[in-house]
Amino acid sequence: MHSVSNLIVETYSRLADQYDDQSNDRSCWGQATQKAIASIRLQEEYRDVLDMGCGTGKALAYFASTAPPHRRFVGVDPAVNMRLYAQERTRAFSNVEVRDGCFESIPLDAQSVDYLYSIFAFHWTTDLEASVREISRVLRKGSEMDMFFIGRDNGREFIQKTTPIFLKYMGPALLLNSARMRKQLTKDAAFRLFSKSFDGSRISIEESHDTYYDTLEGHWGWWVRIEGHFVQIPPAKKQACNAEVQQALLSLAEPEGIPYTIHQLHVRLRRA
Ligand SMILES: C[S@@+](CC[C@H](N)C(=O)[O-])C[C@H]1O[C@@H](n2cnc3c(N)ncnc32)[C@H](O)[C@@H]1O
Repeated sequence: MHSVSNLIVETYSRLADQYDDQSNDRSCWGQATQKAIASIRLQEEYRDVLDMGCGTGKALAYFASTAPPHRRFVGVDPAVNMRLYAQERTRAFSNVEVRDGCFESIPLDAQSVDYLYSIFAFHWTTDLEASVREISRVLRKGSEMDMFFIGRDNGREFIQKTTPIFLKYMGPALLLNSARMRKQLTKDAAFRLFSKSFDGSRISIEESHDTYYDTLEGHWGWWVRIEGHFVQIPPAKKQACNAEVQQALLSLAEPEGIPYTIHQLHVRLRRA
């Protein structure tokens, strides 16, 4: 089994030591992650629980700290340094294991999981169909799932304002390439995708568009980390590009701050 290795995974790994910074926790992504975690209800009968794209293990540690003794958790992530933080954070819990792997190749036996959750990782898969097949392979019959990931309209304010600038500094090929790094599903496309491997009557998809307001500094901290554009801009042009992009974001400011709208898809799989 091979885990994915690409610019996104390398970037998460390289910047893993900043992931749990307070500024990230306070950012729109920190808030949206907390909302997702708070909405998850682990049912008594779940024994084997899988966190896909577990990152630094925040959710794993939270759920493990209140879990009954029979429950076991596995966290999977392809970024080595994110895994190291997750291992450190969950060291006190003997029922948590963190493994190298990815959606495209899940390092678990067939039908070995009662419940899978995943928070803001699935849009990074390199192969949507193979990933959904992998998810359905590891889930037991009658198992349940909650997957939170970003959809096609995500961050549209930023995209509209900054695309001309990125086009200027990156050229069309590199820009297209970086946009393709993230999968951008609509709600309908996500339903069609998951229905290929699961009974459609067990799937429902909740869609939300939540706008978060922040300062330029607040947004910049996470934005430079996660956007494929930034990792693909030639280093010699980076400074000039950053300055123009920051001006463009400032021009979006409203009295509450600079808006960023997270388009979230929440795929729920429930028993019939
Ligand atoms: C935004 S972080 C989310 C981490 C964690 N779930 C959280 O809520 O804090 C995205 C995570 O997805 C991981 N990732 C990237 N590509 C992946 C893939 N193909 N399969 C699984 N995880 C992936 C990254 O390494 C990173 O840890």
